[in-house]
Amino acid sequence: MAKAKTIAIANQKGGVGKTTTAINLASALGILEHRVLLVDADPQANTSSGLGFVPSEQQQSIKHLFHPEANVLNDIVQTHSPNLDIVPGSIQLIHFEINPISSNVLRLGKALNPAKPMYDFIIIDCAPSLGYITLSALSAADSVVIPVQCEYLATEGLIELLNTLKFVRKKLNPNLDIEGVLITMFDQRLNHSRHIVKLLRQYFEDLVFKTVIKRNVSLGEAPSFGTNIFEYKISSEGSENYLKLSREIISNQTKMKKTKPILGKNIQDIMKENTESLKSLETNKAKHLNHFEAFQKKSKDFKKLKGLSKKEVIDIFGLTYNDIYSDVWMYRISDKSSVFRKNFLYLKFRNGCVRDVQLRRFKQG
Ligand SMILES: Nc1ncnc2c1ncn2[C@@H]1O[C@H](COP(=O)(O)OP(=O)(O)OP(=O)(O)O)[C@@H](O)[C@H]1O
Ligand SMILES: [Mg+2]
Repeated sequence: MAKAKTIAIANQKGGVGKTTTAINLASALGILEHRVLLVDADPQANTSSGLGFVPSEQQQSIKHLFHPEANVLNDIVQTHSPNLDIVPGSIQLIHFEINPISSNVLRLGKALNPAKPMYDFIIIDCAPSLGYITLSALSAADSVVIPVQCEYLATEGLIELLNTLKFVRKKLNPNLDIEGVLITMFDQRLNHSRHIVKLLRQYFEDLVFKTVIKRNVSLGEAPSFGTNIFEYKISSEGSENYLKLSREIISNQTKMKKTKPILGKNIQDIMKENTESLKSLETNKAKHLNHFEAFQKKSKDFKKLKGLSKKEVIDIFGLTYNDIYSDVWMYRISDKSSVFRKNFLYLKFRNGCVRDVQLRRFKQG
């Protein structure tokens, strides 16, 4: 009997491309005739809305899967994409994060079990946190894809994430492995993007996917049309990149059956060899982190950004998911904030220099 491989897409750093990867990897696997179940395990429910579902209007929802005796088969909805079903997300999931029904992080995995014979892959999109819900997803998973944004602060939080994976492996799910580190939002034109790829490959070696996801405007646009990149713009680089990633994952699957060691080294080895290297990588980037934190401490300091060129702003904050040609850039600051509150910094440019700076706070939920 077929048994789905369960892959969690996780990184507690926000805005690194987890949801974009979950939606488009799952859709690509479906297009390549694998049966896929996509599980939206983020209270922001961006995976669901990105595929055209309004989570609050769905009867079926992931929130049911945290109850004892839950069975995922009651909460599956068909999508418009071939071979792709979804368990829609729910903003109410946040209640479980704060006040778990039980501390049993194995419930989600148990609830997903009945779906395993029906699918080839179960893809779980995680929230930007390492709380109860993400631990539940990691406990349910066979492997984890770690999207890393090709940015100055790329390695921020990676050590913490690797430590969490190590903890999960030791205490909750000894079979959890790293499917791969996925470089996202790569921009060939930027020196720092190329540098970060080089460093990540140097430290994580063959654990980094060969496929790199390039920065592609269509990938950013597709969710607002409630669809994946293949329906939105099949002839885009984004579509090519995610098809390539899905083929790489499928071929790793076959390799894994033949060879015991799963994709490169196991987590313990990475921890041993890379903690020091990663630390020095973090130190290299500390200059930018310090800038970032210094600016965050006093919001009035953001005004000092006025008059800086785009290049100078990139040197401080990186490009993140802004379009270099746009005259309005946005940065999400205080990544560590919960999903309840998000702070955004808006920079408006004129003639290539910052003309206006605005800090906005949004409450979610
Ligand atoms: N390769 C890409 N090219 C251009 N834009 C991208 C790309 N990948 C993601 N984006 C955009 O970047 C933003 C953040 O991506 P996404 O929502 O996938 O990240 P996330 O890690 O799921 O965020 P969160 O932590 O909030 O859940 C989104 O606006 C998305 O459309
Ligand atoms: Mg997301």
